[in-house]
Amino acid sequence: TDPALIRNFCIIAHIDHGKSTLADRMLQLTGVVEQRQMRAQYLDRMDIERERGITIKSQAVRLPWAPVRGEDGAVGRTHILNLIDTPGHVDFTYEVSRSLAACEGAILLVDAAQGIEAQTLANLYLALENDLTIIPVLNKIDLPAAQPEKYAAELAHIIGCDAADVLKVSAKTGQGVEELLDECVRQIPAPVGNPDGPARAMIFDSVYDSYRGVVTYVRVVDGQLSKRERIAMMSTKASHELLEIGVISPEPKAADGLGVGEVGYLITGVKDVRQSKVGDTITSASKGAVEPLGGYKDPKPMVFSGLYPIDGSDYPLLRDALDKLLLNDAALVYEPETSAALGFGFRVGFLGLLHLEIIRERLEREFNLDLIATAPNVVYRVVMEDGTEHVVTNPSEFPEGKIAEVHEPMVRATVLTPNDFVGAVMELCQSRRGNMQGMDYLSEDRVELRYTLPLAEIVFDFFDALKSKTRGYASLDYEPTGEQSAALVKVDVLLHGEKVDAFSAIVHKDKAYHYGVQMASKLRELIPRQQFEVPIQAAIGARVIARETVRAIRKDVLAKCYGGDISRKRKLLEKQKEGKKRMKMVGRVEVPQEAFIAALSTD
Ligand code: GTP
Repeated sequence: TDPALIRNFCIIAHIDHGKSTLADRMLQLTGVVEQRQMRAQYLDRMDIERERGITIKSQAVRLPWAPVRGEDGAVGRTHILNLIDTPGHVDFTYEVSRSLAACEGAILLVDAAQGIEAQTLANLYLALENDLTIIPVLNKIDLPAAQPEKYAAELAHIIGCDAADVLKVSAKTGQGVEELLDECVRQIPAPVGNPDGPARAMIFDSVYDSYRGVVTYVRVVDGQLSKRERIAMMSTKASHELLEIGVISPEPKAADGLGVGEVGYLITGVKDVRQSKVGDTITSASKGAVEPLGGYKDPKPMVFSGLYPIDGSDYPLLRDALDKLLLNDAALVYEPETSAALGFGFRVGFLGLLHLEIIRERLEREFNLDLIATAPNVVYRVVMEDGTEHVVTNPSEFPEGKIAEVHEPMVRATVLTPNDFVGAVMELCQSRRGNMQGMDYLSEDRVELRYTLPLAEIVFDFFDALKSKTRGYASLDYEPTGEQSAALVKVDVLLHGEKVDAFSAIVHKDKAYHYGVQMASKLRELIPRQQFEVPIQAAIGARVIARETVRAIRKDVLAKCYGGDISRKRKLLEKQKEGKKRMKMVGRVEVPQEAFIAALSTD
């Protein structure tokens, strides 16, 4: 295809603002999907995505469109619109940035009854950094509650355009969507690249398919990729044969090749998304490009949690399940670990909390595993006085000895809130060790607050607290921004003098006491009385900061049948033994596994 006729774009929108509905409407209006085959939300493939209404994996679809409005030369000529789907959530910022890098334009889609949300704003900033042409659009104008004038003014203020240039559509009824397609052709620049140079294509998504192996989505920048040629991945130098290349419209259609500005998929037979990584540059294996396209980054897990099967015999199943998920998820990392309290499990690294939740849910749902997860923690870098460094992904492995500095990861957070709640939001951010960076009124009643915060504070129920303090009205987005050194300490929880590894936590020294008291009293409720007194202590190093006691009892199962017959005694003893099976021993203390599970679950 002549690059002059290609338009590559994505839709930036908050969850529920109607991205999938708009994409469906575009598929239908361009004749790619006929009305009767129209399956709601064609682009979202995975069940969990559908159920949770979020888009995890981006894909691309090719839409032929002959505009009726616009410049003379363009009207009536069939153009190729490539709609690149972007993941909507904060954990997938890098994937979003790669999808954006594959586009020249973005539709900024905002619900006309809600206004813009923090995530959308953050992604808009990303799009502007990538120099994309932004087409502001208000959706759901059919709703009685829609306030298109108000929110058009807000959008105009944010992106610096005229309120009259904000398009108004209803993805549901189709109103305004044809005009929007015309505007995409008119406003979004055609891709430019060197057709005669060595091939360079950027991977913006990579999906494992159990039948075909890895399906890689690419945007060709320079040159041409052709069927059957050998290609090379520039980050690893690995080379593969191009078994198939083509476009999606809306099902895969094989082609002879892809040229400058084109968007499509390719299949090489690799079995693991790690061999075809998002952000990497593909070139020809012979006479390939020397310079990769910019922006490649290895995915870096930010949040770790221990995952343990509730039934210890499920451990091999958990391992197999993780191995399978790994094929489709280049950001997932894990290694086996054992815990005195929880048995055999894995320490698993995630991009963020949502990623953690998705993986956990898939393990439970698709693999039928019952799991217990330890409280999520971030990655700490500990510098010792002798200059050695430790990277800590499990709080129980926090080094002993003379520590010079502890570094923790930081995020730059954007909160959007109605101005009634500004005080509450500030208070919350303050209490989470936040540093205010700025504040803007988006309109007379909506405020954008910018903070830097330790990621550890966000991982710990920040989002819930924000929602409850703002009656659900505030929205949040954040992205990593380096690290800071902070006064962090490890708090251990001891049962009868023995550390319970699963409860060790790294917290700010000002919050250590609170954490210790809370854990000790929680455990006192949950741990059954033993034959002896059991002290529960929280300690920093050797210093005890909180203490509770589980008083002793003498539970003599034989007492009741004093003088009774011997077979009844034996039965009772058998029963008691059975009851012990699901007990974990911590030193001399018997703890039912349920107690650990209850103590770890956040309430
Ligand atoms: P995620 O897939 O969760 O990111 O959401 P989304 O942004 O793709 O939103 P989706 O298209 O699923 O739409 C969310 C809800 O809004 C659905 O119930 C749609 O039916 C509804 N909706 C979308 N567009 C319109 C519209 O123009 N008018 C009305 N009234 N409802 C709409």
